[in-house]
Amino acid sequence: MTNEQPRPDRILEIANGYWATGILGVAAKYALFTHLEAGADTAGRLAAETGMSERGAQTLLDGLAGLALVEVHDGGYRNTAEASAFLVAGRRADLSGYAKLKFAQMDKLANLPEVFHTGGPVQAMTEVADNPHWEEVVPAIAAQSVPVAVTAAELLGLADAGEVSILDLGGGSAIFSSIWLELNPSARSTQLDWEPINAIARRLLKERHVADRFTSVDGDLHSVDFGTATHDIVVYSHVAHQESAEDNTAIFARARRALKPGGTFVVCDYVVDDDRSGPFFPLLFASEMLLKSRKGGTWRQSDYRSWLAEAGFEDVSFHATPSPATLVFAR
Ligand SMILES: C[S@@+](CC[C@H](N)C(=O)[O-])C[C@H]1O[C@@H](n2cnc3c(N)ncnc32)[C@H](O)[C@@H]1O
Repeated sequence: MTNEQPRPDRILEIANGYWATGILGVAAKYALFTHLEAGADTAGRLAAETGMSERGAQTLLDGLAGLALVEVHDGGYRNTAEASAFLVAGRRADLSGYAKLKFAQMDKLANLPEVFHTGGPVQAMTEVADNPHWEEVVPAIAAQSVPVAVTAAELLGLADAGEVSILDLGGGSAIFSSIWLELNPSARSTQLDWEPINAIARRLLKERHVADRFTSVDGDLHSVDFGTATHDIVVYSHVAHQESAEDNTAIFARARRALKPGGTFVVCDYVVDDDRSGPFFPLLFASEMLLKSRKGGTWRQSDYRSWLAEAGFEDVSFHATPSPATLVFAR
């Protein structure tokens, strides 16, 4: 028998996508994956550890098993390898904060019909200076860049690069600086971001014992001087998607000026195929930018190529990462 008849399953799953956001968000709130990792492997034990009702714990475990984030094992439950790597507290790539943030933001979807109708946000978030939105978002999203920063360091040979100077534009929680300064004890990094965000970054880098090689500059990346021939690497991670084509091109030109000869501009973002057929995550993330930014979106490879060429870069390459983000290197 062939399987050619369309089935409704996937559409039913998509329409109920909020179950997944809710189940993951609540599991993260109760640190369920952390308790599972520590050996609490039944609904009864997890209820005792978390203060959740046993009925709630069992229902949550059922949902997480359905989502393939936990698995039944020896009459109890355990984390899948994925949950163990990315949802356990204390691990560097822990996405629990991200899951809680997404769950907390679910009410924003009520604005979507208007946002799609007008083609822009009800209330722009990304353009507003010192917006408390960033203080909430930035620590929660840093974990997603951990595998990307590690991949970029490998591709750039950063650990053995000696005394390099790094400028991170909109560095947020300084996740790139944190990982790179640890990998290369001779590297120094400067981050440009809003003042309250730089304060968060400095605190986090102090915890990692690399704050002595980190400088922060407070202000707007549209206007603060990036310097001339000052840095070996300039990073622009998850900022291009909030900016317009014109602003990205102008920022790329200023980033090029800030680079020493032979330096590398590193863009990290969700990049869409030129024919807009994929990948999945960048295609969907464009809606997030419609909801939150006036002119942002997820941009195609061809957009980056033309903006970088206009900014004076000659050598551009795209690199897949073990995450939905792509790295773009320009020299
Ligand atoms: C989506 S976060 C990315 C953070 C970090 N680069 C990462 O990949 O995790 C965007 C960052 O850019 C900063 N930002 C946005 N617009 C800015 C502006 N006009 N001037 C300075 N910083 C800005 C935000 O405060 C935030 O830290």
